[in-house]
Amino acid sequence: MRIEGHIAARLKELGAEVRPGVALADLTSLGIGGTTDELLLRRYESIPEVMRLLKSEEIPHRFLGGGTNLLVMDGELPFVALHLPSSQPGMRVEGSVAYVDAAADLGGTVTFCAKRDLGGMEGLIGVPGSVGGALRMNAGAYGTQIGPHVREVELYREATGEIETLKGDEIRFDYRHTSFAAGDIMLRVKLELPSKPFKEILAGIRVCNEKRRSSQPLNQKSAGCIFKNPAGGSAGRMIDELGLKGHRVGDAMVSDRHANFFVNAGNATSAEMMKLIDEVRERVRAAFGVDLENEVIFWQN
Ligand code: EPU
Repeated sequence: MRIEGHIAARLKELGAEVRPGVALADLTSLGIGGTTDELLLRRYESIPEVMRLLKSEEIPHRFLGGGTNLLVMDGELPFVALHLPSSQPGMRVEGSVAYVDAAADLGGTVTFCAKRDLGGMEGLIGVPGSVGGALRMNAGAYGTQIGPHVREVELYREATGEIETLKGDEIRFDYRHTSFAAGDIMLRVKLELPSKPFKEILAGIRVCNEKRRSSQPLNQKSAGCIFKNPAGGSAGRMIDELGLKGHRVGDAMVSDRHANFFVNAGNATSAEMMKLIDEVRERVRAAFGVDLENEVIFWQN
């Protein structure tokens, strides 16, 4: 999707920069995805105006966070990708509270807080992606989720078309799901974290890093776990029990390290990855009678 010159000029006045013809394969951890114009939202306060302009000009758009939990279709995309600049995101700590921009890297945030003797997020250290993405999905690992630490979120709200601040208890954080709307854009978060000596936090971080390294394909292109775990069960274990590790559709492959990670083992297309996901879901349904729900988000039109 292309943004025409006169609209790009108006967007520039609003502090939003158009980057034409960007390959989303380069902006996603799976390394899959077609081409579109990227719109960098450099000035938060003008986001409502930018969104009104996109609406009045009938320009379809989607918001791209860290791109680490996303499977994007190939070819020329029928929507533009909105993005917050991720260089030098704001992060500061006051007492037991951290104020962090949504574009900040999640792991970097865990480390930043740890160095200031604020812990509680050790389990999130190796979860790839942005703080905004972690908020939207209620990212979690090794017994930690981000939700319980959230005191406030500043966001662009689709429902009102304005920037608002929600209190932590106004947001529902469930397993890999929250009450945010699809068109909401996370901007900043206030986290309250337990005080802990840096050394102690570091020890916890090391344990999680080691567990992750030993069980997940960290050096391959993936979007983390493809399916949510069903209540009381494990998607990875079921797929493994079916002997599907290493199963491929073209270059899309079930990881031979962790069966709920599907990797791009070369030049996988979006269609190959979709087919692999459908095939595995069908095999699990046939064998276990369990309908696995996607954890990864699809941008497939
Ligand atoms: N297992 C297998 N074979 C496999 C993978 C796992 O038998 O190929 C077994 C393990 O031995 C273990 C059980 O399944 O007994 C659970 O596996 P694991 O501890 O690796 O955790 P998981 O339930 O597969 C969840 C999250 C991960 C998170 C880890 C660690 C989901 C869908 N996945 O995985 O999150 O990193 O726990 O806390 O909730 C993600 O969200 O993208 C993600 C990777």
